[in-house]
Amino acid sequence: MNFKGQVAVVTGGATGIGRAIALKLADKGAAVMIADINVAKAKETAEEIEEISGASSLFVTDVTNVAACEGLAQATIDSIGAADILINNAGIAGSADWQTRSYSTEEDWKQTYQVNVIGMSNITSVFRSQMTRRRSGRIVNIASIAGREGRPSLPHYSASKAAVISLTQSTALELARSNITVNAICPGLLWTPMWEQVGDRHAQAIPAYEGLTPREVFDTMIAERIPMKKEQTPEDVADAVAFFASDDAKNITGQTLNVDGGFFMR
Ligand SMILES: NC(=O)c1ccc[n+]([C@@H]2O[C@H](COP(=O)([O-])OP(=O)(O)OC[C@H]3O[C@@H](n4cnc5c(N)ncnc54)[C@H](O)[C@@H]3O)[C@@H](O)[C@H]2O)c1
Repeated sequence: MNFKGQVAVVTGGATGIGRAIALKLADKGAAVMIADINVAKAKETAEEIEEISGASSLFVTDVTNVAACEGLAQATIDSIGAADILINNAGIAGSADWQTRSYSTEEDWKQTYQVNVIGMSNITSVFRSQMTRRRSGRIVNIASIAGREGRPSLPHYSASKAAVISLTQSTALELARSNITVNAICPGLLWTPMWEQVGDRHAQAIPAYEGLTPREVFDTMIAERIPMKKEQTPEDVADAVAFFASDDAKNITGQTLNVDGGFFMR
C-alpha cells in the first residue's frame, strides 16, 4: 500500500479516529489536509503529518457551512493539490450536554443530522467535481455500528449513522461511472471522549446499566457483545480506511465494513 504523490482530505482529522486515519495515510506517503473546527488540535496533527510524509495542510472547516466547505476544496488545491482521497469522518453524538439527558431533544436531532449527514453531503459535493474531472477518486465515510440497528438510548445518533450508510450507497451509485469508489466503515466500541458521553447516556437510559460509570458500561458491553472480547482502536479503523483508499480496493464500492470485533455479523 503506497499513497506517495496522492492527496488526502480528512474531515474531523484533528483528534480521535480522524487523527489516526490522517497519520496512517501520511505514513503510507500521502499529503494530508486536516479539515476541522478544532484549530489547536488540527495544528498539532498537521505538524505530526508534516514530519511523517513531508506535506500537510489544515483548513478550519465547519462541515455544516457550505462556504467553508468550498473554501476547503480550493485551499486543498492551492496548498497540496487536487484530492485523490476523501475521508468523511467529522461527527458528533448530540447537541450540548446531550449525554446528561435520558431522551433526545429536537436540537439533538437537528445538530446531529446537520453534522453527520448534511455536513458529509456538503463536503462530498465540493470534492466530487475535482475527482470527476480526473476520473479517479476514493471516498470513505465513517458511519457506526449504531447505524446497524436501533439504539434505545441514542435514537438521533443511530438514525444519523443509518443515513450515512444509505448516503454511501447512493453516492457510490452516482459516482461509479466516474471511476470513484465510495465505501463506509462502522467502527465498533472505541474508548474516546465521544464514547464516554455514550456510556453516560446508556447508564441513564438502559436499566441494565443503571449506576455504572461510563467505563464500566463500556467494559460490560465489550464482555457481553463483542465476540473478540477486546475494544477497537482508532488505528484499527485507520487500517480499514487505508484499504478502501488503496488500489487494492479499486473494484469495491457501495460497501459497509464493520470494524467491531464481530459485534455485528452483517
Ligand atoms: N468513538 C467511537 O466509539 C465511535 C464509534 C463509531 C463511530 N464513531 C464515529 O467516528 C467519527 C470520529 O469520532 P471520534 O470518536 O474520533 O470523535 P472525536 O470527537 O474525537 O472526533 C470528531 C472530530 O470531528 C470534529 N468535528 C465535530 N464537528 C465538526 C464540524 N461541524 N466540522 C468539522 N469538524 C467537526 C471534532 O472537532 C473532532 O476533531 C465520528 O463520525 C463518530 O461518529 C466513533
